[in-house]
Amino acid sequence: MPRTLFVTTALPYANGSFHIGHIMEYIQADIWVRAMRMAGHTVHFVGADDTHGAPIMLKAEAEGITPQQLVARIAAERPQYLQGFHIAFDHWHSTDSPENVELSQDIYRKLRAANLIETREIEQFFDPVKGMFLPDRYIKGECPKCHAKDQYGDSCEVCGAVYAPTDLIDPYSTLTKARPVLKKSDHFFFKLSDPRCVEFLQGWTTGENGQGAKRLQAEVLAKTREWLGNGDEQANLGDWDISRDAPYFGIEIPDAPGKYFYVWLDAPIGYLASLKAYCAKINLDFDALIDPESETEQVHFIGKDIVYFHALFWPATLKFSGRKVPDQLNVHGFITVSGEKMSKSRGTGISPLRYLELGMNAEWMRYYIAAKLNARVEDIDFNPDDFVARVNSDLVGKYVNIASRAANFISKYFEGALGYPGDAAKLSERWQAAANAIQADIEAREFGRAIREIMAHADQINQAFDAAQPWLIAKTLAQADAAQRDALQHICSSALAGFKALSVMLAPILPALSERVATELFGLNRSFVWSDAGVLPTRINAFKHLMQRVEPTMLDALFDSPAPEEAPALVPGGEPIADIITIDDFVKIDLRVARIVNCEHVEGSTKLLRLTLDVGEGRHRNVFSGIKSAYEPSQLIGRLTALVANLAPRKMKFGVSEGMVLAASHADDKTDTGIYLLDPASGAQPGMRIR
Ligand code: MSP
Ligand code: ZN
Repeated sequence: MPRTLFVTTALPYANGSFHIGHIMEYIQADIWVRAMRMAGHTVHFVGADDTHGAPIMLKAEAEGITPQQLVARIAAERPQYLQGFHIAFDHWHSTDSPENVELSQDIYRKLRAANLIETREIEQFFDPVKGMFLPDRYIKGECPKCHAKDQYGDSCEVCGAVYAPTDLIDPYSTLTKARPVLKKSDHFFFKLSDPRCVEFLQGWTTGENGQGAKRLQAEVLAKTREWLGNGDEQANLGDWDISRDAPYFGIEIPDAPGKYFYVWLDAPIGYLASLKAYCAKINLDFDALIDPESETEQVHFIGKDIVYFHALFWPATLKFSGRKVPDQLNVHGFITVSGEKMSKSRGTGISPLRYLELGMNAEWMRYYIAAKLNARVEDIDFNPDDFVARVNSDLVGKYVNIASRAANFISKYFEGALGYPGDAAKLSERWQAAANAIQADIEAREFGRAIREIMAHADQINQAFDAAQPWLIAKTLAQADAAQRDALQHICSSALAGFKALSVMLAPILPALSERVATELFGLNRSFVWSDAGVLPTRINAFKHLMQRVEPTMLDALFDSPAPEEAPALVPGGEPIADIITIDDFVKIDLRVARIVNCEHVEGSTKLLRLTLDVGEGRHRNVFSGIKSAYEPSQLIGRLTALVANLAPRKMKFGVSEGMVLAASHADDKTDTGIYLLDPASGAQPGMRIR
């Protein structure tokens, strides 16, 4: 029975580029979507940028642009990643869109009419200089437990204590350094503790989708049981604060001037907004797709960090606004790179764009990630040696190799015609059954198991081919009788029928390669579907090179070279004046005025700050500077400074540094006498040359 599916991935925050964690999620969903399409199901696969919230607003402000401009810049980058990794979204949208405003406000009105919205006065820290309420992450102070300085408003990174921002000793706003004051405000709450919600969620979380499959994976269900109580225990659900006060980049709450929806209220509604925009584009009935009675299956792929939002808030939001609820939540773990966690906003280790720019094959990555994934919420690790081994020995060595070995004999001696022994029907059945098993694995998101099975088939094909020693027959073919000629054709044809079947099985994972196999080698005018696996090919065109091996040097280039974590020395050692130089020597150094548009701590570094600089080039530079002991990032954002703009880029453990900012200090004792960043007089513009 053909099914209709509405599939999404989590909507990435639009304040940064995609990192490998995002790409992993998209690869997982894309493989699944392609497998469903190969089975004849209709899939609407959509994504969008998650644009709202304080971090995006503040980042845009620091860059001197509007949030919309920031979002547009990030959105413009998306296609090269998505196309580059063959991620076939039908549509990519934005939560900052008319569709989302309309849907969010409508959903809110319905929740309000259902008596599930309540207004409550809350008291929260407010930055009197900036004139805004402060999210916890913008408040720092001394830990009330261990007295470590500069700890965030919600927890201490030194002793692990968890507390409220109001517990901090000497709290300050990281935006202005001002001491925050407590201020009252009316907030809107979604009454998740309402018995109707609790009851609904108990049913939804334990329930099944239309296919008789569990909506939630076992470990996800276990988590929701902690939150919801196990029936006998009392549910532990707090009401959900869904409003924020101006200034905020978000969607206005109807009938409440100056109040905006908290970003997490309108973000998942962005799934619907994207589907709606897509439906308008291709003339589909959006309302019919999301009607509570609709047969369309709504499937969300997300990471383990956002389960609370998707397993509680989101289904309840949909249910009590009279809409269709999700059918399936597919939760994945996190990807680490060589065992190291990456920062959620920035990522580390592998830059997906650099991967593509180095000319590395996107399908290697798809294959490798698929080989690591299963249906559980497990973290996976990208390990460079493992990557090279799996791609070269398995993918190229076992699978691609079959075609290159067998096709040449067929082209050379049989003009491309394939022929099978009498019991060819068995061969056809074998391959269709094998492909059906793989199809089931992929639908169950057991990608790693699918790949293990596919490689076991490849081993069998290669072994049978080797055992038959077709090259010996080929050598004496001139003197061979008809039976021997047939034997050679049969050996090669069987191997190629197997190769075709494996190509069908790998098609969701390797869409570009399998399409080439379908069209260029087997002469189809379309890409593979599952039922092609058992159709024995009758002809093959001349073999063309299909896939390169990975060069281990590519991996070296992909990773930051292990460099010392210190920034280049800010001043030469010793204090005597350096040797005389000429003006010609001096002009070699291109000094420029730079604006610090952003500045952040570098996770794991005791000395460095990461600066994002505007040097008037129409792009931003990333520069690391060893000035952490002297400045808080928020003090530097917006300031001008001087940059050595033509210094060779330097690879450091944390990324590439594209220049060096100038600061004054004594050679020794920097901590005692300080470091002083150079400041051009006001009026200077980014990009001006300093001479
Ligand atoms: N904007 C929210 C999601 C809103 S959904 C209505 C958000 N954005 S995010 O950019 O931080 O994350 C997007 C997705 O990437 C999430 O599913 C998240 O779990 C996933 N990942 C982020 N880091 C990851 C890894 N290191 N590994 C795998 N996935 C990871 O959360
Ligand atoms: Zn502490």
